[in-house]
This record gives sequence, C-alpha cells and structure tokens, in this order.
Amino acid sequence: MPPMEPNHALPFLGMATIAAGCDHGGFSLKTLLVDHLRDSGHEVIDLGTDSAERVDYPDFAETVAKAVAQEEANFGLLVCGSGIGVCMVANKVPGIRAATIHDVTSAHLAREHNDANIICLGERLIGPEVAREALEVFLNSEFQEGRHTARVQKVNRILE
Ligand code: RB5
Repeated sequence: MPPMEPNHALPFLGMATIAAGCDHGGFSLKTLLVDHLRDSGHEVIDLGTDSAERVDYPDFAETVAKAVAQEEANFGLLVCGSGIGVCMVANKVPGIRAATIHDVTSAHLAREHNDANIICLGERLIGPEVAREALEVFLNSEFQEGRHTARVQKVNRILE
C-alpha cells in the first residue's frame, strides 16, 4: 500500500462487511479490490459479475444496493466503466447514499459530509492505485455529523 496523505487523520474503524459488484467494465478493478479487501481482513460478499462477459450494470448495482440497505453489509463497492451508471442505480434504493469517487479527497468527503454507504468507481477513468487508496480512505473516514446530519436526513426523506 502507498502511504496515506500526511495530515489526514484516519480513525481505525475496524473490519467491515462489504458487498461488492460490477459489470464487465469494472470486472478487473473489482477483482483487484475484492482481493485487497480480503487480504486486509475485511469480509466481502462478492455479488458478481464473475467474468468480463458483457452484462447490464443495473442488475448488479441493484443487488449490491439492496444488500447494503438490508444491512447485510456495512458498505457497498460498485465498479463499472465510469462509476456513473452503478451510482445512478444504487441511489434509487431507499437508504442508499452512493457516491462516484475519483480520488482520496472525494473519498473522505463522501463519508464525512454525506455519510455515503456505497463507493462507486470507474475502472476506465481511474488507475488501480488511486482506486485502492480511495477505497481505503472511504472505509476509514467517519461521518462528521453536526451540521451535516440534518442535510443527510433531507436526502433520506426523499425516498421515504
Ligand atoms: C459499459 O460499457 C459501460 O457503459 C458501463 O460500465 C458504465 O460505465 C455505465 O455507466
């Protein structure tokens, strides 16, 4: 692992259960990240896809989002070509706050300000090292509550 950015306090939040999914456009990166998460001691529920054969991203994004919404997993990891389609799908499931993440900064802000519970990544847009570091930072950042709490409640209320 490359070192984390200096001055970015990373609380140790312990091991998580992560539901992971992808389409063909995200299969290579999802495989790499699932291996990394398991090597790090996290539990991963890999919900597919299981090959580079062409599939439809909504099928996998919905399955992962429902696993997180039903609290079968603490967080979700979704990978497609851009990280956009899977994010659109996941955010249609009540209780989900999914964010497309491009770097370490968006990774910690999505947790700290938005209490995101699914990280979406675009295999065709970011490299594996950035993706791996962003995922680590996402999992190790905490929702800051305070002024952000009422805003997140307003987000949640839209689908209630
Ligand atoms: C598949 O070609 C691609 O459209 C998909 O992986 C994703 O980027 C959609 O948002």
